[in-house]
Amino acid sequence: MFNLVIFGPPGSGKGTQSEKLIEKYRLVHLSTGDLLRAEIANKTPLGIEAKKFIDNGQLVPDEVVIGIIDNSLEKNKEAKGFLFDGFPRTVTQAKALDKLLELKHTVINLVVSLQVSEAELVKRLLNRGITSGRSDDTNVEVIRKRFAVYEKETSPVAEHYNKQEKLSPMQGGNTIDDTFHSICKVIENVLV
Ligand code: AP5
Ligand code: MG
Repeated sequence: MFNLVIFGPPGSGKGTQSEKLIEKYRLVHLSTGDLLRAEIANKTPLGIEAKKFIDNGQLVPDEVVIGIIDNSLEKNKEAKGFLFDGFPRTVTQAKALDKLLELKHTVINLVVSLQVSEAELVKRLLNRGITSGRSDDTNVEVIRKRFAVYEKETSPVAEHYNKQEKLSPMQGGNTIDDTFHSICKVIENVLV
């Protein structure tokens, strides 16, 4: 199995790069943001509860997203590998993921951390907000709140993987194709 985490602040290109990576490496894409938005669209109790946090730029509670990931791993027993996008987002989630993967006799192989300036991130998110319909993309205050939550709660996850020597920081401010090629190079170094 090959398991990859794509890590970075809101708007850094995690979803964009994931689409290309799952096609090339045949991985199962697990985006907690996408899975939560599907729950919201279906108006499930979980979705209704999660929407309150998302609209506010806050994280959904750890036990909720860990449960979603656990279910998704169970549903995809035949997968060659997983691409985790937007998860783990707290050190508690990272430790839970290590345990879930251990039960399946596998590990995270690589964590790609996309680095993009805040000015570029705001520009990308507001631009996407025009067409995405995402409630958390249209309000600059909510976007700033997402960055603050990222700094405080999510950035320590990088250190969790740095200690495991799995972290690969990468410039994410270049074109989509240039970033994709840089990620592929790092993956190929790990795959050999
Ligand atoms: P989530 O859906 O994960 O959103 P996010 O992390 O805030 O990140 P985005 O999806 O906004 O950005 P991205 O990095 O995927 O960038 P993208 O490729 O789209 O989470 C949303 C919310 O759900 C959270 O705030 C939280 O409430 C909740 N949640 C989710 N997971 C959770 C978890 N594990 N725990 C707790 N709560 C959780 O690109 C952005 C834009 O830029 C696009 O328009 C794209 O076309 C453009 N773009 C991409 N790359 C480039 C490039 N190189 N050059 C120019 N434009 C580019
Ligand atoms: Mg995304």
